Amino acid sequence: MPDAYRHIETKLIHAGEPSPRIDGAVSMPIFQTAMFESAGETSYHEIRYLRLNNTPNHVALHAKLAALENAEAALVTASGMAAISTALLTLLASGDHLLAQNCLYGGTHDLVTKDLGAYGITHDFFDASQPETWESKLRPTTKLLYVETIANPLLDVPDLEAVVKFAKAHGLVTLIDNTFASPVNFRPAELGFDLSLHSGTKYLNGHSDLVAGALIGRADLIQRVTHRLNHLGGTLDPHACFLLHRGLKTLALRVHYQNQSALTIAEFLQGHSSVRKVNYPGLASHPQHHIASDLLDGFGGMLSFEVEGGVEAAKRFMQKTRLPVIAPSLGGVETLLTRPAETSHSGLTPEERERVGIADGLIRVSVGVEHTDDLIEDFQQAL
Ligand SMILES: Cc1ncc(COP(=O)(O)O)c(C=O)c1O
Repeated sequence: MPDAYRHIETKLIHAGEPSPRIDGAVSMPIFQTAMFESAGETSYHEIRYLRLNNTPNHVALHAKLAALENAEAALVTASGMAAISTALLTLLASGDHLLAQNCLYGGTHDLVTKDLGAYGITHDFFDASQPETWESKLRPTTKLLYVETIANPLLDVPDLEAVVKFAKAHGLVTLIDNTFASPVNFRPAELGFDLSLHSGTKYLNGHSDLVAGALIGRADLIQRVTHRLNHLGGTLDPHACFLLHRGLKTLALRVHYQNQSALTIAEFLQGHSSVRKVNYPGLASHPQHHIASDLLDGFGGMLSFEVEGGVEAAKRFMQKTRLPVIAPSLGGVETLLTRPAETSHSGLTPEERERVGIADGLIRVSVGVEHTDDLIEDFQQAL
């Protein structure tokens, strides 16, 4: 990669772009073809066929994504869940044990608790805020440690340095969901994580118009996951590759703005008498604020909060807002509101939700790129 690509803003525009440009095209053309003429390839995984994740659209995206996190290699997948499931089914086999953070994205939690058992993979959850308890969860068969940079929906930030140290001491592979932070705010490879993953549906694309996933990290692991994906078939189609590639170019502009806007909104909410609790790692009141300040370049565009009056008051607040869209998902240009108990975390039992601290009235905000003052004015009238 040229030395000129020092900052992430520059990498987003230039890293991975074909050189020379394809027929002079300034933006990456879409290669809408299932196969390519044979050029003497000798191994199955080298055959140029769309399912094998090696079209020019894939190759360019892989190089750009690896550059963004200062990692060796990357792979795009058909969704964030395709990235998670393919990675877990590559790195774990029957008889293996997984250690996962106890508050995870609901889809990941469901996969771990409801599906992995059928493949002979066992799991335990650990409290990321209590490193002294981790060792007691280890088994001789433990192979992998799974965390989220900023956990959904309570915005907890594990002691990521301690996670890497612990995993290295016990020979475990580390896999981190970096969706909420985005490569702008955190680059896991720099801290020693083996693999990071994203729901590319969220910040990477940023425009709420596709579903995609990404894995970024050690080249040997990316190669193993790619071969598994080639068999499982969760390939990102070329048009979605094109959209993701285009969306990525403005990632830094969006995330820098969203970092600032979310912090201002979190401070406003914290000062409001009708708000009971605000979860945002940028607030000094957040239990892991010191870790987030040390390790992250920004606190992200996600926050959650509880209003006085519980679930009914939360529903009333959401109905009264005018600007945000009430919808699941996150990381796009539109501000979105959701109640995790009825969307992302509805797969957890009420007892499981209570154990990890997700109140039924918790409201999650994905801050978009509207003007911060307009959002605050809207929240003010709704409160
Ligand atoms: C943190 C996180 N990881 C992974 C996923 C799964 O991504 P996808 O919906 O693209 O499969 C989501 C989806 O909401 C998420 O919020």
